[in-house]
Amino acid sequence: MTTAIIGTGGLGSAIARQLASGGEILRLSSADPVSARTLAAEIGHAAVVAADNRDAVQGADAVVLALRFIVLKGVIDEIADSLTGKLVVVPSNPLTTDAHGNLSRVLPEGQSSGEVVAEWLPAGARLAMAFGSMSAKLFESASNRSPEPAVLFYATDDDRAGEEVERLIRMAGFEPVKVGGIDQSGRLEVGGDLHDLVVGPAEARSLIGGP
Ligand SMILES: NC(=O)c1ccc[n+]([C@@H]2O[C@H](COP(=O)([O-])OP(=O)(O)OC[C@H]3O[C@@H](n4cnc5c(N)ncnc54)[C@H](OP(=O)(O)O)[C@@H]3O)[C@@H](O)[C@H]2O)c1
Repeated sequence: MTTAIIGTGGLGSAIARQLASGGEILRLSSADPVSARTLAAEIGHAAVVAADNRDAVQGADAVVLALRFIVLKGVIDEIADSLTGKLVVVPSNPLTTDAHGNLSRVLPEGQSSGEVVAEWLPAGARLAMAFGSMSAKLFESASNRSPEPAVLFYATDDDRAGEEVERLIRMAGFEPVKVGGIDQSGRLEVGGDLHDLVVGPAEARSLIGGP
């Protein structure tokens, strides 16, 4: 199947490499076309560079918005009419960086990026918050762990989105575990109790309080 990845920076490139290694076909797009082209060349035949963000989504079954929170709304508005019926995966933490590299939240404490993004998406798009619960470095090093796979948590309100994001999580070399609906997605973000954890399925289920 085909997944569009919009944003080929630190996290988007890590997600692209992992999905391609699992066999996913990728359509890449970024503000800087050189970054998308360099990544596509590294990945090989499984990745093509799209003409722009809208072109990336055309023909894709799912889209990963690997973007900083402050540009997400603009990109969602740009591609909104192509999102109907598609899985939209968002890993964004609600953070921004100042000129000195200091991170700060752009949303009030207690409000997650998932809750805000759910309001921005058009009707018919199926949202799953996933792939942002670990640093890009940890995400790559923890993938395809053996003998017990590491877990990647996700949150969604949509059962079909859950099935589809589970497929992508497995492609990327992890075991998917649902933390709950979008109202639980803050647990995956920087500062959340499930952020930057590398755990197996049994420990993951006990952490989220499931069976
Ligand atoms: N990096 C991590 O370890 C990590 C871990 C967990 C979650 N996350 C989350 O993942 C998101 C991305 O983080 P990152 O570290 O990958 O950021 P990043 O390195 O800055 O990458 C963001 C990418 O988005 C591109 N971009 C910006 N505006 C765009 C637009 N209008 N259309 C298409 N592409 C656009 C940027 O291109 P230009 O460079 O040309 O601007 C860049 O390639 C953030 O929300 C972050 O909170 C990151």
